[in-house]
Amino acid sequence: MKMKLPVIGGIILSAVMMSCASTKVVTAPAQTDVDRVQEQFPGYTLAQLNEGKSLYESHCGNCHALKKPGDESEKEWREEVPKMVQKVNRKENITLGDEKEELILRYVLTMGPLKK
Ligand code: HEC
Repeated sequence: MKMKLPVIGGIILSAVMMSCASTKVVTAPAQTDVDRVQEQFPGYTLAQLNEGKSLYESHCGNCHALKKPGDESEKEWREEVPKMVQKVNRKENITLGDEKEELILRYVLTMGPLKK
C-alpha cells in the first residue's frame, strides 16, 4: 500500500501543475490593446505590456491563483497592486520597485477594466 503513495502523489502533482498552466492562458496582449489605452498611458508600448504580463505571471500566482485582470475594478487594482507588490518583495526577498509595480498595474488595467 505504501508503495503506491508516491505514484498517487505524482498524479495529483501533475494535475495541479496542469491546472496552474491553464490559468496562465490569458489572451495574449496585442498592439490594439496598447493603442486603446494611449490616452491613459501616453507612450505605452507593447513591450511594456508584455513585460507587465510576465512580471504578473511570475510573481502574483505564488500565494493564490492568478486573478484574472477582469476580476477586479480599476479602483481595486490600484489599491491591491501596491499592497501585493510589498507581499511579493517580502516573500521572495526581492525589490520590485515603482517602475515594475507600474508595469504590473498597467498590464492588469489594460487587459481588465480598461478593456472594452
Ligand atoms: C505572499 C503571498 C502573496 C503574494 C506573493 C501575492 N498575494 Fe495577492 N493576496 C494575498 C493574500 C493573503 C490576500 C488576501 C488578504 C489580503 O488582502 O491581504 C491577497 C489578495 C489579493 C487580491 C484581492 C483579493 C480579492 O479576491 O479581491 C488581489 C487582487 C491580489 N491579491 C492580487 C495580487 C497581485 C497582483 C500580486 C502580485 C503583485 C499578488 N496578489 C501577490 C497574498 C499574496
